[in-house]
Amino acid sequence: MTKILKIRRPDDWHLHFRDGDMMRDVVPYTARQFARAIVMPNLTPPITTVEAGRAYRERIRAAVPSGLAFEPLMTCYLTDNLDPEEVRRGFAEGVFTACKLYPAGATTNSDSGVTDVANIRGVLEVMADIGMVLCVHGEVTHSDIDIFDREAVFIEQVLRPLLADLPTLKVVFEHITTEEAVAFVQASGPNVAATITPQHLHINRNAMLVGGMRPHNYCLPVAKREKHRLALRKAATSGNPKFFLGTDSAPHARHAKESACGCAGIFNAPFALESYLAVFDEEGALDHFEGFASLHGPAFYGLTVNAETVTLEKRDCVVPEMLSAAGEEIVPFHAGQTLGWTYAG
Ligand code: NCD
Ligand code: ZN
Repeated sequence: MTKILKIRRPDDWHLHFRDGDMMRDVVPYTARQFARAIVMPNLTPPITTVEAGRAYRERIRAAVPSGLAFEPLMTCYLTDNLDPEEVRRGFAEGVFTACKLYPAGATTNSDSGVTDVANIRGVLEVMADIGMVLCVHGEVTHSDIDIFDREAVFIEQVLRPLLADLPTLKVVFEHITTEEAVAFVQASGPNVAATITPQHLHINRNAMLVGGMRPHNYCLPVAKREKHRLALRKAATSGNPKFFLGTDSAPHARHAKESACGCAGIFNAPFALESYLAVFDEEGALDHFEGFASLHGPAFYGLTVNAETVTLEKRDCVVPEMLSAAGEEIVPFHAGQTLGWTYAG
C-alpha cells in the first residue's frame, strides 16, 4: 500500500510572483499546493503604497485558477522615506500583512531598499506598536564583506542591535542560510522566527560551483558550506515553532540566469512540498512536517490554521527539465531529478 501523509493545507511565508504574464503563469503552481503566501513586494517599481498593494493583490487573485482557494498576503517594501502612517493604514485596512526590509543593493530589485535601519526607526516603532511583522532580508551589502559572510555579519551589525532597541518587534529572519542564524533565532524571544527555503536544505555551495558554474543553483542569500546546510536541516525538522516554510520561489527566465551576469533566484514553486518532504523523510522527521509547513507560520503571524487538508503520497515524482512561463523557458529547482513524494491534492 502506498504510504500517505495527510496534513493541514500549508502556506508559503516568502514568495515572489512578479507581475504581468510571468505572474499569471506562476501563480497557479503556488495556488495548487498552498492556501496563502506572503508575497514579496520587489516589483519595478516596488510596492510602497496601500493602493499599489491592493491593486497587486487583485491582479494576483485574478490569476488564481477557478476551483482553487488561494489568498495572497501582501507586504510593503520599506524605503528610507516611507511614511509610517502608510504602513499603519495598510495594516489597519487589511491590505498589508507585513513589511519587507531589503538592505539597499542586497538582491534582485532592492535598489530602493533601506540604506540604514536608523532611517526607518519611525516605521519600525509603529510596527512594534501594532504587532505587524517585519520580514528581513538579512544580509549586509558593504563591498568589503565577503558574500559568504554577509548573513552572519548582518546579525551582529544590524539585527541584534535592532532587537535590543525594539525588543517587542515581530521579526521573520527570512531564508536563513547559516548556523549563526539558526543559533540567533533559537536564542531570541518568541517574537523572532525564521523561514527556510527548500534549496538551502538540499544544496551547499559546491552544488553551485563544482564541475562548472550552475546558475540555476544561484540565489541570495547564496548557499553556504555543508555544516550550515546540516544546521538548517536540523532546525527545520526539529519541531521548533520558530522555524517555518518559506520557499523564496523566485522565477527568472532561463536566459536571464544563464548569462554573463546571471540573476539570483531559484524557481521552486512547482514541486515545493515534494522538495521539502524529501528532506523531512531523509531526516526521519515526517511527524514534524505539518508543524513546519502548516502550523508554525500561522501561529507566528496570529492567523488561523487552514481548515482543509492536503495529501502527499510516497511515490516518485519526476521534475521536468524545463517549464515555460510568460513565453520564456524557465528551469525549475530539481530539474530532471526524481523526488520520492508526490503531491496528490
Ligand atoms: C529574489 C528575487 O529574484 O526576487 N532572489 C533570490 O535569489 N532569492 C530576491 C530575494 O529574495 O533575495
Ligand atoms: Zn525572496
